[in-house]
Amino acid sequence: MAKAKPSSQQVLTTVNVDKLKRAASAEKKKLGKLALLLVGCNGAIATTVRVGVELLKRGLADAEEKQGMLAQTGTIRIGARDSQVRINDIVSVSDFDDIVVGGWDINKMDAYEAARFARVLDPSLVDQVKGALKGQKAMPGYFENAYVKNLKAEISIKAKTKMDAAKQIMRDIENFKKKHKADRAVVIYVGSTERYHEVKPVHQTLAAFEKGLQSNSPDIAPSQVYIYAAFKLGIPHHNFSPSQGSEIPALRELAQKTGTPFSGNDGKTGQTWMKSVIMPGFKGKELRIAGWAANNWIGNKDGLVLDEPGSFQTKKKSKSNQAANILGYEIEQPVLISYYKIAGDDKHAMDRIDFKGFLGYPMIIDISFFCRDSILAAPMVIDLCRFLDWAKRKGMAGSQEWLSLYSKSPISVADGVPVQHDFFIQREKFENTIRELVGAPIITHLGNEYWQRGN
Ligand SMILES: NC(=O)c1ccc[n+]([C@@H]2O[C@H](COP(=O)([O-])OP(=O)(O)OC[C@H]3O[C@@H](n4cnc5c(N)ncnc54)[C@H](O)[C@@H]3O)[C@@H](O)[C@H]2O)c1
Repeated sequence: MAKAKPSSQQVLTTVNVDKLKRAASAEKKKLGKLALLLVGCNGAIATTVRVGVELLKRGLADAEEKQGMLAQTGTIRIGARDSQVRINDIVSVSDFDDIVVGGWDINKMDAYEAARFARVLDPSLVDQVKGALKGQKAMPGYFENAYVKNLKAEISIKAKTKMDAAKQIMRDIENFKKKHKADRAVVIYVGSTERYHEVKPVHQTLAAFEKGLQSNSPDIAPSQVYIYAAFKLGIPHHNFSPSQGSEIPALRELAQKTGTPFSGNDGKTGQTWMKSVIMPGFKGKELRIAGWAANNWIGNKDGLVLDEPGSFQTKKKSKSNQAANILGYEIEQPVLISYYKIAGDDKHAMDRIDFKGFLGYPMIIDISFFCRDSILAAPMVIDLCRFLDWAKRKGMAGSQEWLSLYSKSPISVADGVPVQHDFFIQREKFENTIRELVGAPIITHLGNEYWQRGN
């Protein structure tokens, strides 16, 4: 007689969570140091990341506080419905103690001066880790004014060709790893937003791209030179800026060749996170959004860069692509970003949502979000570093769509495949990918495990 198949209830309630925890803990013990290399390491986000990691390492900040880090305090259901497990207990992400932060920039400040200059964190907080920051200078970055008009480089890589610059970046990575005894690295772009540029033939194949690097093609942006260098070494990369990044076919090809995971683009921190949370609510209630007008006042260096039309165009595109994807129809959605110095890093984002109810009666919701840009962004960067490194160790390569909840313009898993902007679908994908990678059953929420259909 054929053996009866276990019911889905049995499958879900017999997941051995302790075994998953033991496996993660054993793997964590074997991990050495991880280099987190930030492009734009003297910027507002990067310095917040750096100070944050140093505070967390020393127990000067409470790691157990919920503050936006899924890899630290987040939980997911594993098995039965009432079982919530800490992601950190079953996913072998690096501990803060093992993360060494460094990177490239184009100004001469050391990490301490840069953190004070950014004015994100109270000076007294930065001073608590002064010793770890003082004298830590950025490696000279690869910069082109044609891509970021509102900044001037004080230090930069001097190279004859873009290929030479990429080779210098590869040497920088290897030297940093050696100096800090790190056996792994993750590169995250938190540099300035580059001017909008189209995908050109040079971006289409790896061979064309490498030729372009040799011949200094003006169509290859500095941020892509960093990506090329990271991918050549098989090092995971995330693009936190809206600039064109690793989604181009040439870099996808290289990532596949070297088995490298990547993600991006453009951190989904404040206003767009709200959009991707609220829009699914309208869709779910079958209420029609007529328009969504967004206005931002921001006074930090990012705001200054975005004050230039070419960089603003890149950002605007990234901020407006959620509606059709989530709602299934286009809406009028003007986006304004004003450089308003007084606001500093504390961005004021205002949204006016016009929608219609029964019999076409109009209503309006206003959202006024006084957000702290880098405070929202920094925990995401730390998460992305830990998850991308884990993905690499799990043999994942190419676009990590399961991390799309971190991005305004997620990179599609393959050219031409639509992405998902709905935050809740993205979260579902994130959870199920973790379950799949740790060997726990996928959860469908059908509830089959609690009832049996009669035949
Ligand atoms: N803070 C947020 O909420 C948020 C959300 C989404 C996206 N972003 C994006 O993240 C990026 C960083 O934001 P930020 O507020 O930290 O900006 P920032 O201006 O404070 O920092 C950017 C840093 O990059 C450096 N830089 C520029 N070009 C470089 C290059 N080629 N090589 C090395 N360094 C370079 C600059 O000197 C600067 O120190 C921006 O592109 C921004 O649009 C930020």
